[in-house]
Amino acid sequence: MASLADQISSRRTFAIISHPDAGKTTLTEKLLLYTGTIQSAGSVKGKQNARHAVSDWMDIEKQRGISVTSSVLQFTYGGCCVNILDTPGHQDFSEDTYRTLMAADAAVMVIDGAKGVEAQTKKLFRVCALRGIPIFTFVNKMDRETRDPFDLMEEVENVLGIRTYPMNWPIGNGRDFRGVFDRASRHVLAFEGDGRANGTKKVEEVEATLGDAALNELIGENNHKNLMDDIELLDGADSEFDLDAVLSGKLSPVFFGSALTNFGVEPFLKDFLRLAPGPSTHVDSLTGEVVEPTREEFSGFVFKIQANMDKNHRDRIAFVRICSGKFERGMEAYHMQGGRKIKLATGTTMMADDRAIVDEAYAGDIVGLFDPGIFSIGDTLCAGKKHVQFAGIPTFAPEHFARITQVDTLKRKQFVKGMEQLAMEGAVQIFRELGAGMESVIVGVVGTLQFEVLEQRLKSEYHVEVRRQPLPYTDIRWILNEPGSIDIAGLSLTRDTLRVEDMRGGKLLLFTSPWNVDWAADHNKELKLSEFGNVE
Ligand code: G4P
Repeated sequence: MASLADQISSRRTFAIISHPDAGKTTLTEKLLLYTGTIQSAGSVKGKQNARHAVSDWMDIEKQRGISVTSSVLQFTYGGCCVNILDTPGHQDFSEDTYRTLMAADAAVMVIDGAKGVEAQTKKLFRVCALRGIPIFTFVNKMDRETRDPFDLMEEVENVLGIRTYPMNWPIGNGRDFRGVFDRASRHVLAFEGDGRANGTKKVEEVEATLGDAALNELIGENNHKNLMDDIELLDGADSEFDLDAVLSGKLSPVFFGSALTNFGVEPFLKDFLRLAPGPSTHVDSLTGEVVEPTREEFSGFVFKIQANMDKNHRDRIAFVRICSGKFERGMEAYHMQGGRKIKLATGTTMMADDRAIVDEAYAGDIVGLFDPGIFSIGDTLCAGKKHVQFAGIPTFAPEHFARITQVDTLKRKQFVKGMEQLAMEGAVQIFRELGAGMESVIVGVVGTLQFEVLEQRLKSEYHVEVRRQPLPYTDIRWILNEPGSIDIAGLSLTRDTLRVEDMRGGKLLLFTSPWNVDWAADHNKELKLSEFGNVE
């Protein structure tokens, strides 16, 4: 039996972030292929379920019987116990996507080599940067015509504000993509055969040294010459690989590859697991002390709550990131926010007939607990005599706003209760216009699907029909000045800027354009604004 410390140090918990279509699903699938979790690619991502992460994971689970929840995919490889956190994109993009990043110890950012840094990449990157977690870059689709690798790195540096260090370098591009040069070993990994067929099997690699005449044959004379020039340029740039800078999120190791054809996936995986950190420490906000993951007693925090959309199963699942110690099914722990001891029953996925029950788990892992309605996002659970409490999860800037009004004014009570409970659960964010009542509420969401979920749940759980009127706000800022130290009504703002208050009494401004945000900052020098609420 591995010791607690060994179990914990073998954990690697990360999320893959990308703009839709950059290749997150394909890369995830290839990681499973290389780790032996699935035998052949293509089995996971059928046409119909390609856009639905939950069903992707359920298929894998059926095939392999591995431990899966709709939020995390776990497997072992090379002595590591790997947890990949699912960060839904596309239409499922919501605040949960951001919250999930709060539970990750590292992120892999997939970039389409032809498109570079895209809108959603920027947003997700900012959340990772807020936490200072290491961010690894995988430049994908090198089997297609892509932009110049030097340009791509420059764009990552300039647009995202993180330094880059190419770990490998692509040889050729598009139809002529022949492999990668590994900078640490100074070897060329040329790919044999035609991975282009469909990439369902691992690719064969041939190792060769730069400058060898034999390389001309392997990758082509022209590619060889260009590669030597590029490497000379890279080596000449005075940047050293600095692991500390990587671990503090200041330097991103960059890998080039093609997830579809498997080129460069394995070298990436090996380096990633070698460099990525184990479970991070967390700070106990009661004492300011650091809680090490190897602390004997179990502790963790709720980062996501999933309501069951099926009327017959009212239960919810609270996803907990374990910060220290060992979790055992049925154990008792103290729920800090509830102020009492509870028995921790592990939950499963949303799909009732496909249960993956977790019996034990360690710091770094995620467990889904049955939630009879007692948990809120950010709550802490801890075992042992000494209580700890972790700082809450930040509130992320919603990007879509609507005014929600009840249709039947006689149902005011249910309306207010429903809105408040759903907001507490973290399904949406609600705001009140300063000086106005609760007849109508301003709702902010990160992804528009959240509006539909809200309406459906108000109807089925609270029997309230609502009307939704879209609002033109696009940018939101929390006012960070101490309460009372600033006259909010007296601020000099553009006419279409709205003053509101959130559930916790935090004051905010809603703007209709980034230009209006700048205007507010320029005309109110003392005003301190933040894109994130509740950041400690
Ligand atoms: P996402 O999860 O980030 O949204 O992206 P996903 O993996 O679904 O990939 C989006 C599209 O890009 C898919 O094509 C996929 O096959 C393709 N793709 C992913 N990686 C590579 C790569 O390395 N090279 C090339 N050439 N294409 C890649 P699709 O046509 O939308 O889907 P499908 O019909 O192939 O399933």
